[in-house]
Amino acid sequence: MLTTIIYRSHLHEHVSLKMLEEMVAAANIKNGQASVTGILLFNGTHFFQLLEGPEERVDAIYQAICADTRHYNLVELLRDYAPLRRFGKTGMELFDLRNYDREAVLQTVFDKGTTRYQLTYGDRALQFFQTFVEDGAKEYYYEIPPADAWEFVVEGTAVALPSAVFDTPSDYRFAFQPIVDPFAREIVAVEALLRTRDGGSAQTWFEQQGGEDIYRADLHSKKVAFAMAAALKIGPQTLSVNLLPMTLIKVANAVEFIVQAIKENGLVPEQVIVEFVESEVISHLAEFTQAVKLLKGAGIRVAIDHFGEGYGGLVLLTQFQPDRIKINRALIADVHKSGSRQAVVQAIIKCCISLEIAISAVGIEKAEEWMWLESAGISQFQGYLFARPDLQGIPPVAWPEKRDERV
Ligand SMILES: Cc1cc2nc3c(=O)[nH]c(=O)nc-3n(C[C@H](O)[C@H](O)[C@H](O)COP(=O)(O)O)c2cc1C
Repeated sequence: MLTTIIYRSHLHEHVSLKMLEEMVAAANIKNGQASVTGILLFNGTHFFQLLEGPEERVDAIYQAICADTRHYNLVELLRDYAPLRRFGKTGMELFDLRNYDREAVLQTVFDKGTTRYQLTYGDRALQFFQTFVEDGAKEYYYEIPPADAWEFVVEGTAVALPSAVFDTPSDYRFAFQPIVDPFAREIVAVEALLRTRDGGSAQTWFEQQGGEDIYRADLHSKKVAFAMAAALKIGPQTLSVNLLPMTLIKVANAVEFIVQAIKENGLVPEQVIVEFVESEVISHLAEFTQAVKLLKGAGIRVAIDHFGEGYGGLVLLTQFQPDRIKINRALIADVHKSGSRQAVVQAIIKCCISLEIAISAVGIEKAEEWMWLESAGISQFQGYLFARPDLQGIPPVAWPEKRDERV
């Protein structure tokens, strides 16, 4: 299968034009041997390369290119399949856009092409060329520093649950994880995550409950979450808890129960955020929005968790606007390397800005993911990079510090 990959990247400043030419000569031979063809555009700062050929061969060369330290901030823009090569004449050719007249440059690039129909019929790959040559998407290039520019330094100590609370006889526990604003060095909320007694996932615990009982069990577990938060002395800190959307619908007086449990533990409804998973919300939207009115009426804020992973996606925001959405790892893993993830996350951010919906990113594991998302406008994060969920209490946070600023 003829595969096409397009990426863009940033030239490392230590690389001279001569080094570049030598690299291109070697690459040309290597690509030729692998039956891979393509073109490499360069505008003085950025590269834009198209590679075409048999899938495994293109992939192998692309992996080597990704690991090359002569460039950085490499973002994959397109991975597609085509009947014919668009630039099939040479293994690899460097095309320096600076040597050409602005008006004629795009046509000159296309003249190097070998395709007959794709230009006529709005081919995505060639559209990417046009945008790059015309400097079209530059505002979306976030130039992030390398991962090792930051050091993550744990500050403070864990807040441990008193043993009397930790040793609860129930078959579940809660793990606590901070949600942080790293630049403000602030813990903006703490989430109580349901776990089995030995630390298994909430899903495992729900699977152990039978039928309709899961909703009642889900609701009652919140009472324990609030009691634990009180035992952890969270004070006025915001607390996030999760609830199955159907719990609000199926269990009579669920909201009254929650409000009562909040108050019994010396907390106030305004400091609580209840998180729901999007996919289940969508399937019972009318009943759900009705039930949410009661929560909002009591002063409790509402968040949609795993936003964008369900079937509703953006259409949900036209029908129901939560106070906050949480974008999960499925959308943001390696976001710094993926043009498609970047485009989707940017669209979500834009919607949330227009609707004044707060946004946070969850499941952050890499410094580059965090930095890219900060550049895109997100400031609240949750993930192993900062703190893992802890069954014993609230863990301390590893805050980012710029390496050269620490000396
Ligand atoms: C912008 C850029 C484009 C590159 N394009 C290719 C290419 O098309 N083919 C290739 O074999 N190497 C290319 N390289 C070089 C590879 O990263 C790598 O150095 C080369 O494949 C040699 O790998 P090897 O030492 O594992 O054989 C490129 C490097 C850069 C910085």
